[in-house]
Amino acid sequence: MKAFRGEILSVPADPASAGHEAIRHYPDGLLVVEDGLVIACGAYADLADTYAEADTETLTGLIVPGFVDAHVHYPQIGSIASHGEQLMQWLERHIFPAEKAFADRAHADATAAFFLDQLLRHGTTSALVFATVHPGSVDALFEAALQRDMRIVSGKVLMDLGPEDLRDTLVSGRADTEALIARWRGRGRLGYAVTPRFAPTSSAEQLASAGEMVAAHPDVMMHTHLSENPGEIAYVAERFPEAADYLDVYARFGLVGPRSVFAHCVHSDDGALQRMAEAGAGIAFCPTSNMFLGSGLFDLAAADRHGVNVGIGTDVGAGTTLSVLHTLGEAYRTCQLRGSNLDPFRALHLATAGGARVIGIGDKVGGLLPGQEADFIVLEDQATPLLARRCHGASLHDRLFALQVLGDDRAISATYLRGRKV
Ligand code: GUN
Ligand code: ZN
Repeated sequence: MKAFRGEILSVPADPASAGHEAIRHYPDGLLVVEDGLVIACGAYADLADTYAEADTETLTGLIVPGFVDAHVHYPQIGSIASHGEQLMQWLERHIFPAEKAFADRAHADATAAFFLDQLLRHGTTSALVFATVHPGSVDALFEAALQRDMRIVSGKVLMDLGPEDLRDTLVSGRADTEALIARWRGRGRLGYAVTPRFAPTSSAEQLASAGEMVAAHPDVMMHTHLSENPGEIAYVAERFPEAADYLDVYARFGLVGPRSVFAHCVHSDDGALQRMAEAGAGIAFCPTSNMFLGSGLFDLAAADRHGVNVGIGTDVGAGTTLSVLHTLGEAYRTCQLRGSNLDPFRALHLATAGGARVIGIGDKVGGLLPGQEADFIVLEDQATPLLARRCHGASLHDRLFALQVLGDDRAISATYLRGRKV
């Protein structure tokens, strides 16, 4: 048994619906861990006697749950900050060439290792990750995640209408997906997501096949992109004239349900948001990507009105940072431009327990609740001279907000997976 003493903050429920009660803050707290699981989390004064025997380490900084990145592409880590285009041209010019290189397993292994180490450095302990069309890209990521004991959900990208040398077929996409599900099921803290890239790069037959696999395997997630860019949306409307809208394309193939995660939804209207809420589907809000590609501004307040579950995605390589902390600052700016407001405690919820729920691991991580895995990080509000100056004598609210606006990997002083420092 191990215990960590320090200032602890977690937001297991959404303050937007649960109110201020959702915020759990212990200025002098104790987090008790046994066999990698949280067994108690509360005020030191309340727990010290019960856990007097535990080996106790004092941590300086703010202890919060590890971040959950609800949408990111590991093969695009080297393509971050590629200049000049919006979505469809950016994919053609920068991304598809980079993804073709993942036919080489050694390249996939090296990139996966680098990517996961970067996630940990940025305080991200769980993520829903796009690989490439190559099944070996998933093996590479899962092996590296297993070595590091990270909670990662991923899957081979289905794209039978992709460019030459970066496409599968109806038959190979199905067979490779089934084989990966069978190979990785139940190993470590890994999960599988059936991953059609987006409607433009899959045939109707492949989307139907994806829907069948989601139905056949109740333990897998479904991960794709939706309504990111006006050009993309127009193309989808042209290819699927029978569908009511972009979301309906996925719905017709059985791809809209409680295990579905849709990245972006920048242009989803009230009707689509309502149908997502009714289906229990989740959205990955990716503000840095949406601004970088000029895609538009996600309307968080509209998603809230309909009750859709939302997580935070960095969406690297269209996203411009792997820092979920910094991404929250950008989410705040997006909300400002949309005429709404993102409270820093709610932001922390979206980046932890909220995101975990969206990507199907809400029972495992995100709230520092008893029984959950003890994945946590230590935020350092003295990490830079500017942060230190802004946070000196400030309230918790103001320190947390300053960390979101000014912080990045420099503000993560330690990352713990199942109670072990990495
Ligand atoms: N839509 C389809 N593929 C992609 C991708 O790789 N990145 C982003 N941002 N959108 C996509
Ligand atoms: Zn993406």
